Formats: sequence, C-alpha cells, structure tokens
Amino acid sequence: MADLSSRNPDWWRQAVVYQVYPRSFADADGDGLGDLRGVTRRLNHLAALGVDALWLSPFYPSELADGGYDVADPRDVDPRLGTLDDFDAMVAEAHRLGLKVIVDIVPNHTSHQHRWFQEALRAAPGSPARDRYVFRPGRGEHGELPPTDWQSVFGGSAWRRVPDGQWYLHLFAPEQPDLNWGNEEVRADFRTTLRFWSDRGVDGFRIDVAHGLAKDLTEPLRDIGDLGATGEEALERVPPGSHPYWDRDEVHEIYRDWRKIFDSYTPPRTAVAEAWVPGARRALYARPDELDQAFNFEYLQAGWDAEELRGVIAGSLATARAAGASATWVLSNHDVVRHASRLLLPPGTDDNAWLLSGGRAPALDEAAGLRRARAATLLMLALPGSSYVYQGEELGLPEVADLPTEVLQDPIWEQTGHVRKGRDGCRVPIPWTTTGPSYGFGARGAWLPQPPSFASYAVEAQAGTEGSTLELYRTALRLRRKLLDGEELTWSDDTPAGVLRFSRSEGWSCVANLSARAVPLPSGDVLLSSAPLTDGQLPPDTTVWLA
Ligand code: NOJ
Repeated sequence: MADLSSRNPDWWRQAVVYQVYPRSFADADGDGLGDLRGVTRRLNHLAALGVDALWLSPFYPSELADGGYDVADPRDVDPRLGTLDDFDAMVAEAHRLGLKVIVDIVPNHTSHQHRWFQEALRAAPGSPARDRYVFRPGRGEHGELPPTDWQSVFGGSAWRRVPDGQWYLHLFAPEQPDLNWGNEEVRADFRTTLRFWSDRGVDGFRIDVAHGLAKDLTEPLRDIGDLGATGEEALERVPPGSHPYWDRDEVHEIYRDWRKIFDSYTPPRTAVAEAWVPGARRALYARPDELDQAFNFEYLQAGWDAEELRGVIAGSLATARAAGASATWVLSNHDVVRHASRLLLPPGTDDNAWLLSGGRAPALDEAAGLRRARAATLLMLALPGSSYVYQGEELGLPEVADLPTEVLQDPIWEQTGHVRKGRDGCRVPIPWTTTGPSYGFGARGAWLPQPPSFASYAVEAQAGTEGSTLELYRTALRLRRKLLDGEELTWSDDTPAGVLRFSRSEGWSCVANLSARAVPLPSGDVLLSSAPLTDGQLPPDTTVWLA
C-alpha cells in the first residue's frame, strides 16, 4: 500500500487530487457565487470520496475577467469568496480530514487592477513601474501598430495601447497584463507569495501557464510569423526553446529558485506545472530540482482509441520515469469539454463548433457518454502516477453545451468576436440536492444556469445508490488506495483489437474494452466494473479491475 500520509514527502506521486473551481462548488452565503465557507462545509464530500488532496483554482481578489485567473492581489481572498480567516479554517478542516491542499499560483500575469499595473499606467514610459510588465512603443509612423504580431491565446493581438501611446503585452485577456520575469522585483514578490501560502499550511501549488514566464525581450522583438494563432501549437515547428515566449529554456531557472523555497518546508511543498508543451519538453518542468509534476495534456487530448491511448500512456510513463517524476493523468478540468461528453464526440469533431450548435451537431446520447466516461475513469485510476479529478466528474456530469450566449462569462466569447463559445459549459455550479434553488449549490440561484437534468446527477441522488457514478468513484478510490504499491505497469499483448489490458502489482489488473463489441472477460475475480457484466463477457465501453 502506498504511503500517502504527510510523513511521506513523496505523497503526491500517486495521489488523487480533486480540483475545486471555487465559484462553482458551493455557495455558503447565497450570493450565487461559490465561496470558501462553502468549500469547508462540503469537504466531507471529498473525504467520503476518498481523494488525497484538493486543488483550489484561484480565490484571490479578481474582477473575474478570466474566471479568477486575473489576480488583483495574490496574497488575499476575494471578499465575495471570504477572508483569510475563512481560508485558514478551510485548510484546518481539510487537514483534519486528512486532505492536502494545493493552491493555484498565477505568475505569468496579474489583473490590470493589481496595484503594480495601476502604478505602471500612471508612470512614464521607461520607468521602473513599467518595467515590471512588458511595455513597448508601437510600430508604424506614429507607433499606431502593435510592437509584434504576437497573438493572445484568447484571440486577437497580444498587445493593447495605453493613452500615452505605449503598448503592453497580454498573452491572455487585455485585463491580464504579462509580468516581466527579467525584473528582480517580480521574482522577489513571487517568492513572498509562495512563502505566504506555505506558511498558512498549504501543501503544494499548481503553476498556471508555467511555460510562459520567460520571454525573449531582446530588441528588436521578433515576430512569430504564421506559426499558429496562439503560438502554443507552433512549438512542434520551431527548434526547442526558441519560441519568443513559450517554453524557453530560461524559464527553468525560475523553478530551480522556487525549489529552494519548497524544500525549506517539512514536508517539502509540492508543485505541478500547467505547461502546454510536447511530452519530452514537459518532463523538464518536473525534474527533481524544479517542480514535481507537469500536467499531461496529451492524455486528455487523446481520443477513445485503444492504440492511441496505449501509445500516450507508455510514452507518458517513460517520459516521467526519465525525469524522476511520476506521471499525471487528467480527463477533465475547467478549461475543456467534460469527458462525459467529449469522449463520445466523433474523432475530428471541432469542440467549438459542437458547443456553438448547442450540443446538437452531433447530438449526444447522455447515457452512452456516461458509460464511456465511467470506463475512461476506471482506466485512468488504474494507471501508475497521480490523477487529477475535476469537480462534478464524480457525478458523471456532462458538458452544459446549450448555455445561451447571453449568459456566457468566459472572455473568449467576446474576445474572439463571438467565434469561440469558451469554457463556461464545464463551469456550471454542481448539484448537491435533487430539489431546491440551484440544487443545493446555494440558497438562491447560481451564476451560470443549471439544466433541469442536473437534479438526477446530484450527490443526494447518488450517495448510497448502488451502481451510481459517485459510488463507482468511491469504491474505485478505496480499492486503489489498498492496491497501490509500485509505479510499474505491465501490458498484456494477447488482447483482442480495441482492448487494453495491463497489470499493476501482482494480482491487480485492468482491462478496458474500447471496441464496439463484447469480448470474453479474462479470468480472475472482478473487483470492480464500470458497467454491469453478463455471461462472462466484457461489453463495449466497459473497464474492469480484476484480482
Ligand atoms: C490556464 C487556466 O487554466 C485558464 O483557465 C486561464 O484562462 C489561463 N491559464 C490564463 O491564466
């Protein structure tokens, strides 16, 4: 059995981490927006689920130009979400229940409301206040053109002009100006932030846009040409480390510096990088003297296809092993279509076009999506390494694809001129009860409308109900904790087409049928199955754990 206790400095290696998107989790004060006291009240749900840690998406003061990833003060709590005392109470309760706490750090940019940016706006070009960000004169006769062709991830130019004529860089929304990591004050301030939360007892950090901090700001700034809209997808097309702002080699110096802070605590604080970079480069972020892990987005992006998944799993394990890290697995988070819907979309479907159609082209069979999601989850939870579970997936929630455009909050919708619908469909507040306003999320409504179908997914409807998705997760996590030992996996090659089979420790194996027809169930005692089994067969879209 793996030691996941706080005595073990490596507790994170095979942990299951539950992502809480605080504004959509539980609303204690009834203002329609989830809050920290809501999280504290519902921590027993996480303990009963059997996860090892929770990761909180940003809860800092923010005008919500990007769902909280526009941080006005990284060392405080948004008053709508609570206070620092509420935060301390939440950490204390989590620890009492044996749950670790990971917070999200956003070092690539601040909110434009951050006092530094406000100061920069008031200061003159070339001043120290402007040097904390990336301000440049424009091109063209009167400086009327942006300094480079760099594009915002959310659409349009990554530069915005200020009244005195200079431009500032924002790789995300204009309300999220990029920091200049060449500036020592910026570096020092983040060290303070890491210590601030570590001193308050947090066990680790999720590093937002970890691959974006270092930029090539040597003059003249370089255009990227037609490498791709955001540049991230262009990384495969440029020599490693040579893109002007993604995944530059110098970024690692920052994490080596942070490692000293992490290691000054007992147990050492852990960290996971959000880095949208190809596998081999991803491993660099998870070297022992940097962050511990990096999210594995290749796994998330793989289709429901046995061969493809086997390749991605084997590659991810090899990459992590070579770096001395453990692999990570994610199926859903607050940025992507929930996997109960996504895995059923035909290969090659454009997720955005599907969202724009209100989830009607193609229309999905919700029950079939749930069946596949449950199979995918049991497969994920059998893999060596740690799994990141997104709030609501333990209930089998589908994407809310038909949100009317008037309610959308994601800046992507406006910034792309209504071309991309954005990520609100996976951020709809989750249902706790089968009735009542906002299905137990809060005493009144919810900041995004919940569909009536949410009633049947509520925790209340599923807790204690045999065969429910919630009970499947609970059982899987309880068994996993008992069964875990090493980090090795052995594939069986004599499987029918479309079937994946591997064993973990002696006696524990996982078989997933991703094909369209039933196959004979291999011998062994069935520990858990994602769907009912009949007549010694493993039906399509079903995963079993065998002893
Ligand atoms: C990644 C976060 O997950 C996403 O929600 C956010 O919009 C960007 N980083 C910018 O902070």
